[in-house]
Amino acid sequence: MGKTIRVAAAGDIHAAAGDRDRVREAFARVGSQADLVLLAGDLTQHGQVDEICVVAEACAELEVPVAAVLGNHDWHSDRAPDLRRFLAEAGVAVLDRSHAILRVCGVGVGIAGAKGFVGGFEQQWANFGEPIFREAYAETTRDVEALDQGLAAIEPCAVRIALLHYSPVEATLVGEPERLWLVLGAERLAGPIRLHRPDLVVHGHAHHGSFEGDVDGVPVYNVAVHVIGREFWVFELDAETRAPAPPVAVEET
Ligand SMILES: [Fe+2]
Ligand SMILES: [Fe+2]
Repeated sequence: MGKTIRVAAAGDIHAAAGDRDRVREAFARVGSQADLVLLAGDLTQHGQVDEICVVAEACAELEVPVAAVLGNHDWHSDRAPDLRRFLAEAGVAVLDRSHAILRVCGVGVGIAGAKGFVGGFEQQWANFGEPIFREAYAETTRDVEALDQGLAAIEPCAVRIALLHYSPVEATLVGEPERLWLVLGAERLAGPIRLHRPDLVVHGHAHHGSFEGDVDGVPVYNVAVHVIGREFWVFELDAETRAPAPPVAVEET
């Protein structure tokens, strides 16, 4: 057993402007239980600046690094660039079709992040001819390509993580009506995961989905707070063996 990195993850916090105390207390608690915090999108209810400030202020008080992707709700008010800026000013590594390599407990932890987008599973809708359908398909393609490039860039890291909002697999959507799966994830996001085999994949977005899935043995977890039933889920990752076994998911105390 090598060095263990404790990674806390949560998605779909959906902070409102009045949630300042609740969010700050939750982050303060997890700051003492984890070495790294991941936020899997939908940080806000409506993508408002006063909502993101609730999260940014809580992040700024943490001593452990935080990495985040935005979710669809964070785009509701067309303020995504402002939201990214407030998070970045609070010290958060905001991943938007990009990657970061963080030094955590003396170990290089690589995180490739993208929001992801729609597409579903075994769907052929991209063959529709209208430009708006082709553009939606191309939007997902941009996320797939960025995830591929990000995972390639973090290949040398001792711990490698993919951080998404939309799901790359059906398994973590089970519990949601199947008619919605088209807009809850995209199987094409699994391609880069299958190729690069990161140690951990986390996403959110599917509030009524399931916790655990995999892409050809690569562990995938839906960490939406509605699914995990707590503020954060803390994973323990072995930084030295890069063991192919799924990480141990430890309960918060
Ligand atoms: Fe959400
Ligand atoms: Fe979402």
